[in-house]
Amino acid sequence: VKTQVCIIGAGPSGLLLSQLLANAGIDTVVIDRRDRAYIEGRIRAGVLEQGTVTALEEAGVADRLHREGLPHEGFDLAFDGDRHRIDIKALTGKSVTVYGQTEVTKDLFDKRFEEGQVFYFDVPDAKPVDITSDRPKVAFTHDGAQIVVECDYIAGCDGFHGVSRQSIPADVLKTFERVYPFGWLGVMVERPPVSHELIYANHARGFALASMRSETRSRYYVQCDLSDDVDEWSDDRFWEELALRLGPDAASKLETGPSFEKSIAPLRSFVAEPMRHGNLFLAGDAAHIVPPTGAKGLNLAVADIRILSRALIAHFRDGDDHHIDTYSETVLRRVWKVERFSWQLSTLMHQFPENSPFEKRMQRAEFDFLSSSEAASRAIADNYVGLPLD
Ligand code: FAD
Ligand code: DHB
Repeated sequence: VKTQVCIIGAGPSGLLLSQLLANAGIDTVVIDRRDRAYIEGRIRAGVLEQGTVTALEEAGVADRLHREGLPHEGFDLAFDGDRHRIDIKALTGKSVTVYGQTEVTKDLFDKRFEEGQVFYFDVPDAKPVDITSDRPKVAFTHDGAQIVVECDYIAGCDGFHGVSRQSIPADVLKTFERVYPFGWLGVMVERPPVSHELIYANHARGFALASMRSETRSRYYVQCDLSDDVDEWSDDRFWEELALRLGPDAASKLETGPSFEKSIAPLRSFVAEPMRHGNLFLAGDAAHIVPPTGAKGLNLAVADIRILSRALIAHFRDGDDHHIDTYSETVLRRVWKVERFSWQLSTLMHQFPENSPFEKRMQRAEFDFLSSSEAASRAIADNYVGLPLD
């Protein structure tokens, strides 16, 4: 099998890359360890930056997003019962869109299938080979057959646990990591959201987030222990804890119901450098993880793909390799800024078991400063709506 770009991973990164390249007449093959139904069912991110919406428009997959996505012009930060609204529209002129990652993935799959994209699903053993040669390959088994895809470039879009990053030699790859001492327990429920804007709350009992997927479907999270098991969290226990942390005002409007999804995710900051080795590129979660506070994970992946697709298009269409040669450096500069924001907002909004009374006062002082400073609020808003690409 021959192609121009072999994409490992059919998550949002891999799918968007194949769509943007297809629109430019560049041929790709996409390989995933799972199948379409499994990938579409993974409930993850929910807030899209304006730049992410633009990328989906450019890809030609934004019609339903424009019909069904909810534009948001602000969100609330709450701290021990006090609330501060970040008016992102007034502070930045921009807004964000609430539209689930499941829907983004569905829209991308629909279009890729409509256009006849070549996919290999349920591939257990994809392996990038000869990545420093000018004829790299991805070798794997599919339906019992041995397949080798020969290509010009490999795009490693296979998430944090993927094979692409691991195929970069240890003496080349540098990794940076911070693991947080807690997780997020997330619940999805078919009930209207408690508030028409998101609420991020730091309460003495821990962080809580009120989010949504539509006018009738809500997504809520509470900070939990890493050792917690979802089975220990009955719906009743979850609603009680959420109500306490959001405070009496929000709690009086909270509509509870039977959850239809409940899962625990650990929080991590992680960056791998460089994001290119030979003719293998890394993009999205394959190269970096942010803690979910601030909703940057999916948006950061899309920003990588915008830059990578431009670089590959310049190569194939114009024979210009400048953007390919500067990809890692360009992308990482932005990645680190987004890492900084996600780390800062996580640090402000959670209860850290190791925090001394001094550090707790620092969190409070930072919240008070934000509440009284338009400049500080704008800094949060600028990051929330998304930093520019260059
Ligand atoms: P992924 O979505 O991980 O896609 C990678 C794909 O590669 C998958 O389909 C996988 O099956 C495939 N793959 C993996 N290994 C291989 C292999 N060896 N061979 C072939 N294919 C392989 N972000 C937010 O902004 N807000 C959130 O609330 C949020 N919640 C999250 C909750 C969880 C549990 C997780 C894991 C992430 C969450 N994120 C969230 C982050 C966001 O979902 C990711 O940043 C986003 O999915 C990144 O997209 P991606 O395509 O780079 O990686
Ligand atoms: C959601 C997740 C986030 O991490 C966030 O900051 C906002 C919203 C969500 O799943 O809706």
